[in-house]
Amino acid sequence: MPIPTTLPLSRALLRPWRPGDAESLARHADDHEVWRNMRDRFPHPYTLRDAKEWLAFIETTPAGATFAIEVDGEAAGGIGFEPLADVFRVGCELGYWLARPHWGKGITTEAVRTVTDHLFAHFDFIRVQASVFSWNPASARVLEKAGYTLEATNRRAMIKEGEIGDRWLYVRLRGSGSDARGG
Ligand SMILES: CC(C)(COP(=O)(O)OP(=O)(O)OC[C@H]1O[C@@H](n2cnc3c(N)ncnc32)[C@H](O)[C@@H]1OP(=O)(O)O)[C@@H](O)C(=O)NCCC(=O)NCCS
Repeated sequence: MPIPTTLPLSRALLRPWRPGDAESLARHADDHEVWRNMRDRFPHPYTLRDAKEWLAFIETTPAGATFAIEVDGEAAGGIGFEPLADVFRVGCELGYWLARPHWGKGITTEAVRTVTDHLFAHFDFIRVQASVFSWNPASARVLEKAGYTLEATNRRAMIKEGEIGDRWLYVRLRGSGSDARGG
């Protein structure tokens, strides 16, 4: 069965990134409150050139692994997963962000739940993890609502903008969440 590249949500659409998304990507991603909760490879400021470079890179990644979150007809966020390396390759790391005007509507929770079910259905991973910075309770809440559990707090494990923080490691194992119902 081909891996789906478009996943409908109740008030958004998960679909492949397209070259035409560069302008909306740069506009929505250029936000300190988004960047502060992302890894440093997520640029800040986020320019149109950064957007074009990222869209070119994403074309080299496997189908069905990275999605734009389309809201009101434009790309307003992203969600995707990357395999972990070497002996950890049974697992993958999920990452996501949404443009600020759309926060608090349940869109990311549905996206996380849907993408996690999708990856258990179409990829061999037995574990999905997500790394939350300890000043980001909204993301922790998203993961809990999507069936993840807090597995560990890695103390003083990261630095962002000069501030040391803990990492909250959230995990969903194959068969332990909403994927259990669909087999
Ligand atoms: C974190 C983020 C993804 C949340 O997206 P969202 O679409 O607003 O999430 P949802 O609406 O599905 O759920 C948010 C939940 O967090 C809760 N929340 C929001 N701010 C909170 C806070 N300061 N403390 C505790 N809970 C909070 C909301 O009340 C909601 O929970 P509820 O449904 O029980 O009321 C979004 O704010 C974002 O993109 N932030 C910047 C990037 C980022 O943090 N990415 C994740 C990196 S791990």
